[in-house]
Amino acid sequence: MLGKLNHVAIAVPDIAKAAAVYRDTLGAEVSEQVAQPDHGVTTVFINLPNTKIELLEPYGAGSPIVKFLEKNPDGGMHHLCYEVDDIIAARDKLVADGARVLGSGDPKIGAHGKPVLFLHPKDFCGTLVELEQA
Ligand code: CO
Repeated sequence: MLGKLNHVAIAVPDIAKAAAVYRDTLGAEVSEQVAQPDHGVTTVFINLPNTKIELLEPYGAGSPIVKFLEKNPDGGMHHLCYEVDDIIAARDKLVADGARVLGSGDPKIGAHGKPVLFLHPKDFCGTLVELEQA
């Protein structure tokens, strides 16, 4: 079912500072900041040769990463995103196997304009998993 690792997401309290660390200290190629009001986050993507890092900063009062940052005030790894060929078939198999899909269970359009779903961390080794249509 799983294809490529699309990105590793890191939640941070200050995305400009985090982007500067990746750009200036680590010498990586860093995108502009993009507000994603539908997802309650601002994102920056760091392009690596084999995958991406997604920096996330809370956007708006109802941001889904506020609690995570309360527990991890310096920031921390928030989720892994894997590509799948058919997100609906993947969801149906996972649900049939007893995995929990977050939210309505229907894919939303993610930061790359493709359908995404999130899976409950308790079902996946303590890690929040995002699936993205390849
Ligand atoms: Co993501």
